[in-house]
Amino acid sequence: MRPVVGCTIRGTHMNKLLRIEKLVKHFGHGKKAVTVLNHVDLDIHAGEIVGLAGESGSGKSTLARCIAGLHSYDSGAVYFQDALLPKKFSAVDFCQQAKKLQMIFQDPLSSLNPRLTIGDILLEPLRLNSDLSAEMQEQLAIQWLQRMSLKSSDLSRYPHSFSGGQLQRIGIARALIRQPQLLICDEPISALDVSVQAQIINLLKDLRDELGLTLLFIGHDLAMMRYLCDRVAVMHQGEIVEQGCTTDVLEHPQHAYTRKLVNSSPIFL
Ligand SMILES: Nc1ncnc2c1ncn2[C@@H]1O[C@H](COP(=O)(O)OP(=O)(O)OP(=O)(O)O)[C@@H](O)[C@H]1O
Ligand SMILES: [Mg+2]
Repeated sequence: MRPVVGCTIRGTHMNKLLRIEKLVKHFGHGKKAVTVLNHVDLDIHAGEIVGLAGESGSGKSTLARCIAGLHSYDSGAVYFQDALLPKKFSAVDFCQQAKKLQMIFQDPLSSLNPRLTIGDILLEPLRLNSDLSAEMQEQLAIQWLQRMSLKSSDLSRYPHSFSGGQLQRIGIARALIRQPQLLICDEPISALDVSVQAQIINLLKDLRDELGLTLLFIGHDLAMMRYLCDRVAVMHQGEIVEQGCTTDVLEHPQHAYTRKLVNSSPIFL
C-alpha cells in the first residue's frame, strides 16, 4: 500500500477527520453470510477530496452506508474526529452523525420527498435541529438556493418540476445547509448528462474551497476523479487494493486490478 506521507497535497498535513480500520461487513447469517467489506482501511483528512473507485458490486456504497450509520458493521473500527462510532447506530447516534456527515446519491429525484416543496425540503433539517428563527432559516434556504444558481421563487416548487442537474444541486444544498464536516457523494453524477456532470463536479470543487469541506466521492469515472480528487482509493471485491495521491495511483498503478481499471478507462487509452 502506498504511504500517504510524501503526498504534497491539500489536507494530508491536517487532522484525520475519518479513520476506518479493518472494517468487516457481512450480509446474511451463518453459512449464507457473504463478506462484502473485508478489512477495509481508509483515512480521510480534513479538507481533502478522496475518490473511491471500483467496479459495480465491489462494496463502495456499503462502505459509505457503514460510515453514515445506515448499515451496521461486524468488526473493525470507524473513528470520526477520533471518536469511535458504534457498530450499530441508535436513532440518537444517527441524528448526531447526520449533523457531521451528509450523503448525496445518484438519483436526486428519488432522494427528495416528492410531496414537499423545495422550501420544506431545505428547511426540514433546520426546523428539527437549529436555534435560528424561522425568518433566518428561510433566509439561509434562499442563500443556499442562490448559491446553487436557483431562484428564491423556486422555494415553492416541487421536485418533479426541476431538471436532473437542478435536483442534484438542491440535494447538495439540502446536505450542506446543516454545515456537515464530511459530504459523501455516492455516484452523484452518474444519472446526469455530460455537460451537467461537469457543472456538478466544478460546484463540488468550489464548495470545498469556499467551505473547507471534506468529500468522499464515489464513482466510476477515473477522468473525473483525476480532475476532482486529491487522493483515490481503489476497491475490488470488498477490499481496498490501492490508495494514494490521485496522479500516482492513476498514472503509475501498482495493483493489477487498478491497472485493469485504468486501461479500460477511455481517457487513458
Ligand atoms: N442490503 C443488502 N443485502 C444483501 N446484500 C447487499 C445489500 N446491499 C448490498 N449488497 C451486496 O453487497 C455487494 C456490494 O454492494 P454495493 O452496493 O456496496 O456495491 P457498489 O460498489 O456500490 O456497486 P455500484 O457501483 O453498482 O453502486 C453487492 O454484491 C451487493 O449485492
Ligand atoms: Mg454503489
